[in-house]
Amino acid sequence: MTDTFLPNNNFTKDHFGPRFKWGVSAAAYQIEGAYKEDGKGLSIWDTFTNTKGRIKGNQNANISSDFYHRYKEDIDLIKKLNIPNFRFSIAWARILPNGIGEINQAGIAYYHDVIDYCLGLGIEPWLTIYHWDLPAALEQKGGWTNREVIAWFEEFVAVCANNFGSKVKNWMVMNEPVVFTGAGYFLGLHAPGKRGMKNFLPAIHHAALAIAAGARVLRKIIPKANIGTTFSCSYLAPYRKLKRDKKAVERVDALLNRLFIEPLLGLGYPEKELPVLKGIKKISKPEDEKNLVFDFDFIGIQNYTREIIKNSWLIPYIKASLVKAENRKVQLTEMKWEVYPEAIYHMIKQFNKYPQIKKLLITENGAAFADKIINGEINDEMRTKYIQDNLKQVLRAKKEGLKIDGYFVWTLTDNFEWAEGYHPRFGLVHINFETQKRTVKNSGKWYGEFLAKS
Ligand code: NOJ
Repeated sequence: MTDTFLPNNNFTKDHFGPRFKWGVSAAAYQIEGAYKEDGKGLSIWDTFTNTKGRIKGNQNANISSDFYHRYKEDIDLIKKLNIPNFRFSIAWARILPNGIGEINQAGIAYYHDVIDYCLGLGIEPWLTIYHWDLPAALEQKGGWTNREVIAWFEEFVAVCANNFGSKVKNWMVMNEPVVFTGAGYFLGLHAPGKRGMKNFLPAIHHAALAIAAGARVLRKIIPKANIGTTFSCSYLAPYRKLKRDKKAVERVDALLNRLFIEPLLGLGYPEKELPVLKGIKKISKPEDEKNLVFDFDFIGIQNYTREIIKNSWLIPYIKASLVKAENRKVQLTEMKWEVYPEAIYHMIKQFNKYPQIKKLLITENGAAFADKIINGEINDEMRTKYIQDNLKQVLRAKKEGLKIDGYFVWTLTDNFEWAEGYHPRFGLVHINFETQKRTVKNSGKWYGEFLAKS
């Protein structure tokens, strides 16, 4: 289609400019393991995955890729691959076992060790404060459906900022709120497994308020911090050229792409396209509208695919359904997501329409493909091509003058992919989960060489 705009395969990292941030992303629950060690409390993901029938194959991340014990080996790999920025999250229950109150000093010491190890190697840490692992003790009090969660979260953010603020410059308050509220409090597929609008609407509103409140705590304690937050997004296209399918796209766009960013930018919830959101008013306080707003230094977006949408009267609230990629004869990843690199370009463009956004980074992008080790090598051509093709689209956006300031691959090592367990492998580095042996895949080697070259 628009291939003429694209750079050829000879593009280098210098085409993205000297200030462009290159990195790799990960999240505590997916990699750390050590789920009960050194005073850590349980999170909703520990309890959820250790309950039968929740996760494919009843898998859990009690051990996972054992980053807790092997972080030096993994950060050495980041160094070896010339990756200058490492984004990872803090497990709330590791530093506050009950979510609030008593601090677990061993947990604080652990994150200091990880941060210091990065800094010692010249790798810049980017901390995500919340990547879905709410302390189980707080879920017992209603979790994200309880308005008190905003104060609990502020306490957690303050502990992080007070302890790590002198070392860490780059912060992200929360990761993909629409996913953890939608999958966790509406569909029941993710922890804590709650369902229905009665859980979803309060979870949305409290999460949105907590993002802004958490960012204010960071700003107060670390005035010079670079403060952002991250959102999932999907490029959406109508199934047919029908008006009703286009309307369905607007509704899904309001849900998947606009639900959190717009209130945080001061634009309110997208109620016009999704009238069900008007229900949030019933649980709102007058000061909420202004408290939802925060002036972020950057926004992170995370894109993997596009979705094709058609009108459906059968689906309540949203009257739209996804036309599964499996039924569309397109190339799929192991997540059954369509490989569609243009999606990332369209999402950069869509988020560029908000003039309030100062900097825009891709804080996750990557792909799960089945990997085979042959003679000690993993020639994961499809993952390498996926990353290259996505980067071309990022460069296309940049060349058109759109704001785009960084790109982080998801993820460093294979790890626990939530409800999908260990089957989808997203890593640049292969993990043998029996021996914990790390093997850099060819995609990792490629990314490393790309980052070394100018
Ligand atoms: C989004 C999430 O932030 C991350 O935890 C997940 O593993 C990847 N996308 C891939 O699904």
